[in-house]
Amino acid sequence: MSDNITASAQRPAWWRHGVIYQLYVRSFADANGDGIGDLNGIAARLDHIAGLGVDGVWLNPCYPSPNRDGGYDVADYTVIDERYGGMPAFEALRDAAHARGLKLLMDLVPNHCSSQHAWFRRAVAAGPGSDERARFIFRDGRGPGGSQPPNNWRSTFGGPAWTRLTAPDGEPEQWYLHSFDASQPDFNWANPQVADMFDEVLRTWFDRGVDGFRIDVAYAMVKHPDLPDLDDPAGDNPYLWNQPGVHEIFRRWRALADGYGRELALVGEVWLPPAEAADYIRPGELHQVFNFDLLQQSFDAREFRTSITDCVDALKHAEGVPAWTLNSHDVHRAVTRYGLTDPEPLNTADANALRTRARGAVDVQLGIKRARAALLLMLALPGAAYLYQGEELGLPEVQDLPDDARQDPIWERSGGTEHGRDGSRVPLPWRADAPNFGFTLATQNEADHATAPTTTPPWLPQPAWFADYCVDRQDADPESVLAFYRRALGERRHLDPDAPLVWLEIQREDAIAFRRGQYVCATVFDGPPIDAPAEWGQAVISSGTPGGTTTTTWYRADS
Ligand code: GLC
Ligand code: CA
Repeated sequence: MSDNITASAQRPAWWRHGVIYQLYVRSFADANGDGIGDLNGIAARLDHIAGLGVDGVWLNPCYPSPNRDGGYDVADYTVIDERYGGMPAFEALRDAAHARGLKLLMDLVPNHCSSQHAWFRRAVAAGPGSDERARFIFRDGRGPGGSQPPNNWRSTFGGPAWTRLTAPDGEPEQWYLHSFDASQPDFNWANPQVADMFDEVLRTWFDRGVDGFRIDVAYAMVKHPDLPDLDDPAGDNPYLWNQPGVHEIFRRWRALADGYGRELALVGEVWLPPAEAADYIRPGELHQVFNFDLLQQSFDAREFRTSITDCVDALKHAEGVPAWTLNSHDVHRAVTRYGLTDPEPLNTADANALRTRARGAVDVQLGIKRARAALLLMLALPGAAYLYQGEELGLPEVQDLPDDARQDPIWERSGGTEHGRDGSRVPLPWRADAPNFGFTLATQNEADHATAPTTTPPWLPQPAWFADYCVDRQDADPESVLAFYRRALGERRHLDPDAPLVWLEIQREDAIAFRRGQYVCATVFDGPPIDAPAEWGQAVISSGTPGGTTTTTWYRADS
């Protein structure tokens, strides 16, 4: 066997180290001018994504949906919504992505569907005690006339986790469980029909060539069978999250995926401390699990080091890898999190939101500097990495959306006390001088864009200050955040995916450094520049001034 063959046979699967670009479909690019992003828009701008140097994309849900929760209320799991271009647009995007060597991941939402899903409509119609209702979690109410919810659980979005149905004759009837919005009834995973249905969904999309799934709230599907009351309804809900039985589902899906003989990937959304999250990537379970611990830390050397250590240590019994991330459609953008100078108190029922969606005054330049440093640090970690569209532009969170434009159900369900997640979902700015900042592709020939007639406004309004962040301006500037992302992702290609992380003791409280193979990654969070020892080699890329304050630098010793 030649060395070449040996080397390629040992090449780790793409998902062990790949970088995935998360596409919030409604907000990336709008090809047909209705103000809503779509798959043809993505296909038209695929060069932007491929040009970053990522390995694949993950599409947020783009299935038919009443869109009460950004498409996480799925009415049909098996097709693409016409608003996003339907199946022809999906096929074209899949082929265009694969032609550029990009993997395509879809979003799977197995904990709940939309109240408009055929199964839930049938369940409502069929009445109490029916087989149709047994696919969901229906219960009689408590108290006189069943007027109280079956237990005291709270929805993640605020308010009770139960909603009562009204019969056609106006009589109140049973209650159904929804961990999120009332338009998102939870499935009953104790019913084998539910598992069978999702097997079919997985097969449908694998057969169509997708390369994997991001699995929504992957730790919620199995509930404690007794649905017990909580001692503290405002606290954590151990009867809903991380029930041991949920792992059975992932073993089943892993076996199904392995049956394809392609390199497919299943990545779980699991908001748990690293040690518990690691259980989801034990042998025979998921390939990746998001590490959300890191993005909940302040920009602080000790917090980052502890979080990374916890995650890396937790992997001892794992076979899969952590999926590192600093941004998503659910949290405030990193620039804003790291640049907050004066956070306002936040009123939320969701503990995970506390550290990720604080509002207040922001020092944007500081936020950008820190976000660049954090990104370069994250890209040095072992495992996969996920980027969220717009972070490559250094976009801050849009905190100043008009209240009447807000769409996130959190805003309404919290009684207007929590602003929710719309501020990271504002349509991207592409061209400073074009209508809708080029989010809407006015013609096939984008060069005509500047002269195109006014188009439908985007589904969330773009602030005027987006002009400064447009892709066209950053393209021309070697110092831009966009140029930095391209360089960083390019350099990451030379990292040995299998090299372990080894901490270097540099005797500083305000800086950290670790080795990965030939590279050393050092971050100065605060304090004086770092004095890099000669054995680290040359600085090869830096988020700012090599070795400087609030900067990450990679050094490489060429042996
Ligand atoms: C996940 C999604 C979030 C959604 C929720 C309910 O956390 O990322 O956007 O609202 O699940 O589906
Ligand atoms: Ca559109």
